[in-house]
Amino acid sequence: MWASIISEWLSLIFRWLHVIAAVAWIGSSFYFIALDLSLKPRDTLPKGVMGEAWQVHGGGFYHIVKYLVAPAQMPSELTWFKWEAYTTWLSGFVLMIVVYYLNADLFLVDKSILDLTPVQAGLFSFGSLALAWLLYEAACRSGLARHELPFAIGGYVFLVALTYAFTHVLSGRGAFNQIGAIIGTIMVANVFAVIIPNQKKIVAALLAGEAPDPKLGKAGKERSVHNNYLTLPVVVLMISNHYPLLFGTRYNWAIVAIVLALGPVIRHFFNERHKGHPSPWWVWGVAAAGMIAILLLSAAGPRDAKTAAATPPSFAQVTEIVSSRCSMCHAAEPVWDGIVAAPKGVLLDNADNIQRNARLIARNAAWSSAMPPGNITEITADERAVLAAWAGGQ
Ligand code: HEC
Repeated sequence: MWASIISEWLSLIFRWLHVIAAVAWIGSSFYFIALDLSLKPRDTLPKGVMGEAWQVHGGGFYHIVKYLVAPAQMPSELTWFKWEAYTTWLSGFVLMIVVYYLNADLFLVDKSILDLTPVQAGLFSFGSLALAWLLYEAACRSGLARHELPFAIGGYVFLVALTYAFTHVLSGRGAFNQIGAIIGTIMVANVFAVIIPNQKKIVAALLAGEAPDPKLGKAGKERSVHNNYLTLPVVVLMISNHYPLLFGTRYNWAIVAIVLALGPVIRHFFNERHKGHPSPWWVWGVAAAGMIAILLLSAAGPRDAKTAAATPPSFAQVTEIVSSRCSMCHAAEPVWDGIVAAPKGVLLDNADNIQRNARLIARNAAWSSAMPPGNITEITADERAVLAAWAGGQ
């Protein structure tokens, strides 16, 4: 019992830390991107300054100037922005261990997709995370990333292919988290392995009284542009585990493909505005079309969906299925090892509770295959069809 309770609170603590760190990181990175794009050159600026901006906030005015690559001398005090990113990754990785690796049989593996042991699934997850990052890093270092559009298209195809593969190895929920973790890792590694080391080299050059190499600044900027476009999709992927219709339906990989495309398109709108260019309003048309496509795709049902029999099922059939496939966990006193209270407070242990939770049952077990987790109690496609036929009439 204690193991389960401690793991619950570890999950809360690290989720809290992860969200706060991510808010701080994404907040400061959005701020700096908007600031960078809004800088205006002026004749009167000191030497080495490429632009200035005026801002009002918190009861005063800010006058910000940007030196590119660096001022002539090292300032006496310098604020770095890196721990937001590092904390986001570290807390996220611990959270992934607590939620996904230690409960791999529930959340990472789906035996109806591939019959992996928890250890195999964990190794696959960690190995593919490291490999995907290495491939990205190699592609950037080879100079491919300098060709922005082909690199963006190549990167997109790479991520969609990974998603397709993951949804055929891990559970839908595990696959979504995995692709989110890969994107997040790439983003943090950009800060850790390129942006910050390059800034350190620039500082070292300044201290040595040398002119810093402008290439260092450029390489950092390239990675920070990647991060800018990856931010919105990664957030959707990280909250997707609350939406069974996203991760637990037949075309879940195509839904991710749309999300990966929509995120950058929506960022483009804000980037253009911050530059002071005319707003590309078409972006919202594309975003709306994408959301409608996601809605339609998510209605396609679980992967192995069957059409229900012509005669509507009896409620007795429904309670029989739910009792045999769900109630060992979803009861006041669960009998499933490691589960100490009804998950998310959802009780499915008698006819009244089943009736009351009809919609939740439909979204999690009839229209998607989110429940039972990892199909651990081996519900059949026919049984899902019975639940769907019943839920459709509710
Ligand atoms: C092995 C134990 C287990 C079994 C069996 C199981 N569940 Fe769950 N269920 C869970 C866990 C754990 C969660 C919490 C998931 C999370 O942390 O997001 C959950 C969450 C839920 C939720 C809440 C989802 C939300 O919106 O937050 C619903 C509804 C649900 N299950 C329905 C079902 C149905 C219907 C079945 C049977 C077809 C079922 N469960 C079988 C463990 C189980």
